Amino acid sequence: MNDMSAVPAVESGVPEPADPADAADLACLSGVMVVDHPLVQHKVTLVRSEDTTTDNFRRLVREISQLLTYEATRDLAMETIAIRTPIAATQSRVLSGKKLCLVSILRAGNGFIDGMLDLLPAARVGHIGLYRDPETLEPIEYYFKMPEDIQERMVIVVDPMLATGNSAIAALNRLKEAGVTTMKYVCLIASRPGLRALRAAHPDVGIVTAAIDDTLNEHGYIVPGLGDAGDRLYGTR
Ligand code: URA
Repeated sequence: MNDMSAVPAVESGVPEPADPADAADLACLSGVMVVDHPLVQHKVTLVRSEDTTTDNFRRLVREISQLLTYEATRDLAMETIAIRTPIAATQSRVLSGKKLCLVSILRAGNGFIDGMLDLLPAARVGHIGLYRDPETLEPIEYYFKMPEDIQERMVIVVDPMLATGNSAIAALNRLKEAGVTTMKYVCLIASRPGLRALRAAHPDVGIVTAAIDDTLNEHGYIVPGLGDAGDRLYGTR
């Protein structure tokens, strides 16, 4: 695991990180799981740091995606089956219920997919591409490719950064139009305004995140956030 020896001590005057369990905005947080496990929080600090290189950033995002998947799948349906171990007959539990589909919101969502597939190897993967119309600022779809039986699957939508919430809301709208009835949304950092907007538009969709940041800047970036997740994953800036 990475050590933190290269990370400088906290400077005075720099705001402290938001407490993941901050109870001040509980209405916004109902239906939101903040994974405050020490391993996750340690890795979140490393991905936030501007000193983290592209290869480390990509590996850390993959590791965080696995730890978030562990929590996002905590309530999957199970059934008991009969098996034989080399020693005795027994009964044991396996996953049952709906099959899974992971849906990546392009392009940063792709940074989550391989780590999630490590844990959910039988899951299908869909992709949604959205861009923001420069005049209306509304998300416009340019790509939508899903498995044919998407409406029968439980869908986990992924995008590392939940900023304004507009893309997330548009993606969930589109998936519901395609017949999907069971969804979760998994991100690495959520802004509080984005969380509020997504919860209001899709109160039936549970959200799993590693961190909640309070604000967005004038360019729509989460503050303090981690910068542009796509650029940092793919080294494009
Ligand atoms: N998308 C990003 O990659 N980063 C942000 O801070 C907001 C949106």
